[in-house]
Amino acid sequence: MDFKIAVLPGDGIGPEIIEQAKKVVIATGKKFNHTFNFSHALVGAIAIDKTGTPLPAETLELCKKSDAVLFGAIGDPKYDNNPAAKVRPEQGLLAMRKELGLYANVRPVSTFPSLIDKSPLKKELVQGVDIMMIRELTGGIYFGKPQGRSEDGNTAYDSCVYSRYEIERVVRLACEYAMKRSKKVTVVDKANVLATSRLWRETAAAIGKEYSEVTMDYMFVDNAAMQLIQWPAKFDVIVTENMFGDILSDEASVLTGSLGLLPSASVGLLTSVFEPIHGSYPQAAGKNIANPLGTILSAAMMFDLAFGLKKESEAIVTAVEKSIEADYVTVDLNKEKPRSTSEVGDWISSYISDKL
Ligand code: IPM
Ligand code: MN
Repeated sequence: MDFKIAVLPGDGIGPEIIEQAKKVVIATGKKFNHTFNFSHALVGAIAIDKTGTPLPAETLELCKKSDAVLFGAIGDPKYDNNPAAKVRPEQGLLAMRKELGLYANVRPVSTFPSLIDKSPLKKELVQGVDIMMIRELTGGIYFGKPQGRSEDGNTAYDSCVYSRYEIERVVRLACEYAMKRSKKVTVVDKANVLATSRLWRETAAAIGKEYSEVTMDYMFVDNAAMQLIQWPAKFDVIVTENMFGDILSDEASVLTGSLGLLPSASVGLLTSVFEPIHGSYPQAAGKNIANPLGTILSAAMMFDLAFGLKKESEAIVTAVEKSIEADYVTVDLNKEKPRSTSEVGDWISSYISDKL
């Protein structure tokens, strides 16, 4: 088959890691007889530098026309240290989520047995962790109006707003995932305090009735933050609102030992976006040292979710597992004999071409 992929490398290490994912996509295509048409576009700080806006109209158009979007990372310290900046790279990401209707961010968190010692938690706690974290991505406090400052500048406000349909579609997605897994969904909210959380709980319960085989439980976000550390292995599918999901998915991601390993998919109404969960890691930019596995595994998710190609997706995951077993990894995973970003990309591509 023939697929159109929009490639948005973004900032920092984005271009280097995306290059590795592209190599792997091409190798997988050769192996399984698919062709890809890659089109590159600007997003983030680099887009601000070149065009004045973090999400140029051409980039958005390209994404809409594509079968999938492969996304690197955005962010630049010159903006982080300047809270007064009017245009910020992150606005590009938020606008892209809204415009493409990327309503759910799906982050699988599972451990690689050979990396279990890298986890900050005790081995007994992390063994068997396999969490599907589903975060609502286009609602809540990130987008609610009004947002701003009072005229005298001394008061600021954000609004957390949710409508029933926004909760329904993401909870339904969580139940669909649960049906393919161990049929358990944990809805995380703060229903003891927030009105939006009470709507979440009510709506989730109604969707839960449509999935009679799924057991749904509810947990307050503070308790969930604690239990993720205390008993991570007992979670299966977690679904939660935008801000709680932002925080909890970062927390969950370190359970596996390296942030650089984790992929994500943002499932959309118009197209879907595949990106590693780590940021732009500006200190490593251009040094060919960043871990490309999160991006390569995001490409694996793309084959499965955007193209419906399961075998191809599994081939990529297998090749990544083999590279880890062979200890052919970047410096975050092996300080003594680190491999470069591009060496890891080449190894995985060759494995797919020659060994599978
Ligand atoms: C993420 C990031 C973004 C978010 C930032 C960069 C706006 O942290 O994708 O989790 O908060 O959603
Ligand atoms: Mn985040």
